[in-house]
Amino acid sequence: MSSVHVPVMLEDSMLALEIRPDGLYVDGTLGGASHSEELLKRSAPDGKVFSFDVSRKALEAAASKLAPYGKRWTPVEANFRHMDRELIELGVPEGSVDGILLDLGFSSDEIQDPAIGLSFQNDGPLDMRLGPKANEDGLTASDIVNTWPEREIETMIRNFGEERFASRIASAIVQARKAARIVRTLELVSIIRGAVPAGYEQGRIHPATRTFQALRIAVNDELEALKDAIKAAHRMLKPEGRIAIITFHSLEDRIAKLAFKGEGEWEQVTKKPMVPSDQEQNVNPRSRSAKMRIAQKK
Ligand SMILES: C[S@@+](CC[C@H](N)C(=O)[O-])C[C@H]1O[C@@H](n2cnc3c(N)ncnc32)[C@H](O)[C@@H]1O
Repeated sequence: MSSVHVPVMLEDSMLALEIRPDGLYVDGTLGGASHSEELLKRSAPDGKVFSFDVSRKALEAAASKLAPYGKRWTPVEANFRHMDRELIELGVPEGSVDGILLDLGFSSDEIQDPAIGLSFQNDGPLDMRLGPKANEDGLTASDIVNTWPEREIETMIRNFGEERFASRIASAIVQARKAARIVRTLELVSIIRGAVPAGYEQGRIHPATRTFQALRIAVNDELEALKDAIKAAHRMLKPEGRIAIITFHSLEDRIAKLAFKGEGEWEQVTKKPMVPSDQEQNVNPRSRSAKMRIAQKK
């Protein structure tokens, strides 16, 4: 099945990475494969691209799209947090990569796939794992809401969702699960709706937005994975090799910002994050929350 995902900051990310015709590039987040394909085109005729994803569906869909690039393209079904280990196993030496891209979060294909359960608009199992290697303990969103103590659920919703009604929502979840396990996305949506005040956020966002974001971050251990990935990327890049990270919420952006500032390992290419052009934001509403940070290995 072909991807419906519209890439974000495609041109900007390619310019940020200064692609060379014989370079070695890593796309940590293959998704609908647009960035990987662009890396392949711009690094022709001899460049190589390794593309990671935890989603088997993404890897399978990309296989036919990127087949014309032959041996220049290598798909890797693995978590980007382990990109150093995985690349070394594939014969890529430490310190040999020219550029690394991370376009974080989930693709439009994933949010529209009811089997994953990311969307608060479609009914599906309350799972949220982006793939078998998305986490190491097999934790699902349903495990969290049905087994974690109320206080931990509240902290997770507050910290990862920046949700001010975290306490009310956690209490409603624990109340509801006494009657029956919460196993479907729309069951959770109705519990959240019942817990927040009428006129939640003046109707600007759906009441389940922040709780669903929090659960997705917790299930896929997204923030720790990003910290690991930045360390792994540093290990694999050449001196002066570049990383570009496209983030979609402030928690991720803060991690990239702090990592690039700290300990003299990185030099920031731009001090401020880049954002999509007005034109891109008009055409692709999903791009409106994107920020890209670029750094170079010292
Ligand atoms: C925003 S999409 C990438 C879109 C892609 N750049 C494109 O042009 O279509 C993010 C992708 O990263 C994958 N992903 C998320 N976390 C991951 C992780 N820790 N390791 C590997 N892949 C991950 C998701 O499954 C998803 O396919």
